[in-house]
Amino acid sequence: MTRILITGASGLLGLNLALSASEQHTVIGVDRCRLTGVPFELVCADLLEPGAVDRVLDETHPEWLIHCAALANLEACEADPILAHRLNADLPGELAEACARRGIRLLHISTDSVFDGMKADTYSETDTPNPPGIYSATKLQGEQNVLSANTDAAIARVNFFGWSLGGKRSISEFFFNNLSVGRQCNGFTDIWFCPTFVGDLADTLLRMLEKALSGLYHAVGSDALTKYGFGVRLARRFGFDETLITPISIEQSGLTAKRSPTLRLSVHKLSTALGVKIPGVSTGLDHFYTQFQQGYPQKIRSYQQS
Ligand SMILES: NC(=O)c1ccc[n+]([C@@H]2O[C@H](COP(=O)([O-])OP(=O)(O)OC[C@H]3O[C@@H](n4cnc5c(N)ncnc54)[C@H](OP(=O)(O)O)[C@@H]3O)[C@@H](O)[C@H]2O)c1
Repeated sequence: MTRILITGASGLLGLNLALSASEQHTVIGVDRCRLTGVPFELVCADLLEPGAVDRVLDETHPEWLIHCAALANLEACEADPILAHRLNADLPGELAEACARRGIRLLHISTDSVFDGMKADTYSETDTPNPPGIYSATKLQGEQNVLSANTDAAIARVNFFGWSLGGKRSISEFFFNNLSVGRQCNGFTDIWFCPTFVGDLADTLLRMLEKALSGLYHAVGSDALTKYGFGVRLARRFGFDETLITPISIEQSGLTAKRSPTLRLSVHKLSTALGVKIPGVSTGLDHFYTQFQQGYPQKIRSYQQS
């Protein structure tokens, strides 16, 4: 049993990770008092408040820290670049330094979108990032701040889907919420990504810590598809009408933040380091569907403070 502190415990990744990790470890989640009734310890903190990082670490004495808190909404980052920089760039550096001082092993969560998505081939960890917007630029700065403050830290560049506290956070919930009530929705045919199921990602992240990995790793799914293709695959898994999904270009979406068109990331380095096969989208959608059958979406939403 290891003591693991997880920031962003009310978020899509943080909550699923904390629930999964708490089956084998002592988990302490950091949230902003949004959670109730979860099967792990909670500490309520706004990590941007002066002294919050030191206070939380000194109160909780973790052995491992998985830093999931971020401003992860691209449009919100474009609207408030200063907040995006504080949360996505400065805070990870501060945490990395605080962990180094205390001998806490840090796993920092970053993003696939540090790349501009213009490469025809897959991206490896040695490829040079070129972030297309405020979100990705601040996340890249966060990676650099972590590695310069703490050479033992590990960084995982991710992209994931799953069930969330509010029921609307993930791309899988977007398609589920529309298709399950027979409502038409759009799917982008010109945005490629390698999504991984958040439960599979949780297993991978815990393995990374167990193996004491350090440095940069791509921790996405093992296969690439378009967002439209993902919607179609989800529709087929749930038995929904896939013709409800209209294939469109991102140009027609009205979204303001610039997106990278082709984010195919190689997971070879991670798979080799862990000695396991990284799951792809079919396995992930099977797990997402199994959770649905088991009432997991209702369970996760019940943890929200009313
Ligand atoms: N979703 C994806 O597919 C995706 C793709 C690539 C990378 N990522 C990265 O994965 C990580 C997790 O993303 P996510 O989708 O799980 O994000 P999310 O659902 O938006 O959750 C963000 C979390 O950060 C917390 N937070 C924000 N500001 C905070 C503050 N000042 N103090 C304490 N906590 C604060 C939020 O708390 P509140 O609930 O109180 O706001 C929430 O728990 C992020 O690093 C993100 O950049 C995500």
